[in-house]
Amino acid sequence: MEHVTRVVGDLSLVQRPRRLRETSALRHMVQETQLNPSDFIFPMFVVPGSGVKREIPPMPGNYHVSLDLIADEAAEVLDAGVPAVMLFGIPESKDEEATGAWTDDGIVQQATRKLKESHSDLIVITDTCLCEYMSHGHCGVVNEDGYIENDVSVDILTRTAVSQVQAGADMVAPSDMMDGRIGAIRRALDEEGMSRIPIMSYAAKYATCFYGPFRVAAESAPAFGDRRSYQMDPANVREALREVELDVTEGADILMVKPALPYLDVICRVREAFNVPVAAYNVSGEFAMIKAAAQNGWIDGEAAMMEVLTSIKRAGAGVILTYFAKDAARLLNKRQ
Ligand code: PBG
Repeated sequence: MEHVTRVVGDLSLVQRPRRLRETSALRHMVQETQLNPSDFIFPMFVVPGSGVKREIPPMPGNYHVSLDLIADEAAEVLDAGVPAVMLFGIPESKDEEATGAWTDDGIVQQATRKLKESHSDLIVITDTCLCEYMSHGHCGVVNEDGYIENDVSVDILTRTAVSQVQAGADMVAPSDMMDGRIGAIRRALDEEGMSRIPIMSYAAKYATCFYGPFRVAAESAPAFGDRRSYQMDPANVREALREVELDVTEGADILMVKPALPYLDVICRVREAFNVPVAAYNVSGEFAMIKAAAQNGWIDGEAAMMEVLTSIKRAGAGVILTYFAKDAARLLNKRQ
């Protein structure tokens, strides 16, 4: 007592934030951010063939799954209370026009049909991009100078989005970072009578090392060069606001920031500036870091998962794309 008095002098300690931290019930009552399974979108990787469920080495607990098993995978997602999946496809063959991205019998189109047949209530979101389908692994068409052409790429992306929705996709998510693609896709969907289909734009997508494990999973590493002529410079935040503003103007319904953890400030700024739902992609490298450290016994993997997801939501992302979706949702269900 004497000690306290000495420290605070004449002031009596009226303000004692610790009063609200004493019991778990109190802490829960005043908690500002609470995760729900319904916040999550689980990314899935579909491959050709049958009977394939192969773990992706740098992404423990995530699998390459063939078409015949994809509905079972999705059932697990729904059982955990996660309402949505984001579909990525690994095609049988790749070319310089990304044919596999937009053909009616493309891997994602087939998977979408399968999923909607067996789980009509599942929100199926398709990643709209070309890198998995291009022989060179870039997200657009490459010209003779090695430059990624914008407008022809947008045409192919638009075609891809329309074909994904024709297959039954509930939402499309363009992840290429070409200029003007949201507007072009919005117009094309409207013209095709698909004006009710929302677009989730990968609006501020950075050129980051944290996509590494995904590129192993999607077999989409660029064969030459890098993605810095279309994805954003990690040093920029005002540019992110510009990108996001353009996408809102062009008709984006949900704005995504990607990656999440190294860009919490960007999530926060986007949240403050726009009244559109904000999503964040907790990407493969962020996932792999936690998994690897946990496997080594260097970190408590479960605690790290929940702390990271909470921080992403606290920063302003109401929707979180994460490879942790099933595990985090199961944990949340258990705690309730
Ligand atoms: C495709 C795409 C990428 C990711 C999602 N869509 C990778 C890239 O741009 O190379 C990354 C997802 C992740 O790392 O988890 N353009």
